Amino acid sequence: MEPLINYFKDIEIHHVLDVGTGGGGFIHVLKKTFPEAVITGVDPSEEALEAARNHFQDVTFRQMVAEKLDFEDDSFDVVSISMALHHLSKVQKGLKEIRRVVKPDGYIVVNEVISDGLTPAQEVHKLYHHFRSHIDRLMGRYHRKTFTKDAILQMLKVAELPVQFFFEQRRNVNLVEDEAELDLRIEKMKSMLEQIKGSAEYDVLQPQIEEFRSKALKYGFQPATNLILVLRKK
Ligand SMILES: C[S@@+](CC[C@H](N)C(=O)[O-])C[C@H]1O[C@@H](n2cnc3c(N)ncnc32)[C@H](O)[C@@H]1O
Repeated sequence: MEPLINYFKDIEIHHVLDVGTGGGGFIHVLKKTFPEAVITGVDPSEEALEAARNHFQDVTFRQMVAEKLDFEDDSFDVVSISMALHHLSKVQKGLKEIRRVVKPDGYIVVNEVISDGLTPAQEVHKLYHHFRSHIDRLMGRYHRKTFTKDAILQMLKVAELPVQFFFEQRRNVNLVEDEAELDLRIEKMKSMLEQIKGSAEYDVLQPQIEEFRSKALKYGFQPATNLILVLRKK
């Protein structure tokens, strides 16, 4: 995330909130970007927060949804949301809350995986991710398909959060090094599928496992592109 670190290198930031922090995957980036800041992370999943607490003793974690942030107006210099916009059932409500708790001269950082302009190996990642999100939805967990870049820009425009700076990040790594690792992924997909056994969607999703396997062997399996944006209130 060098471009993000460079963007903030001369800007004084004291308080950072990470929304949808999960196990703290984005906290590493926040610590590098804002080395002096006090960081708070929030997420609805107590299980994920427990894992995050074990990793980061110097970060405060609280259970909370993006759509209802339990903070005063204008509380933070930076509010981030990473890989979580497509998990929000009410994206605009979440963005409104994020906008509310950031200071008038503060910044919002969005990191979100996108669904368009992908290479064939990244399309394999999208197939895998959308298989997971489909099962999550059938299990009653809100998890929509990933957004296109334009859809993200449009929702930020509606939220009145003008873009100051953005870049795309592509990681040129293969997520399965060999067939043994691929088999592990296949096993994971099969056990996810078992959770919805008996549902009409079972027969729709089952062929996707073989599709994933043959495409991963043909093209590889690389992370989809991330879009990283810095926004302000005005
Ligand atoms: C893919 S994880 C992202 C974790 C982390 N931010 C990262 O970048 O690695 C998505 C997270 O969004 C959280 N989430 C789901 N619904 C949410 C909501 N309404 N408000 C805030 N976070 C939510 C999930 O619990 C999950 O931890």
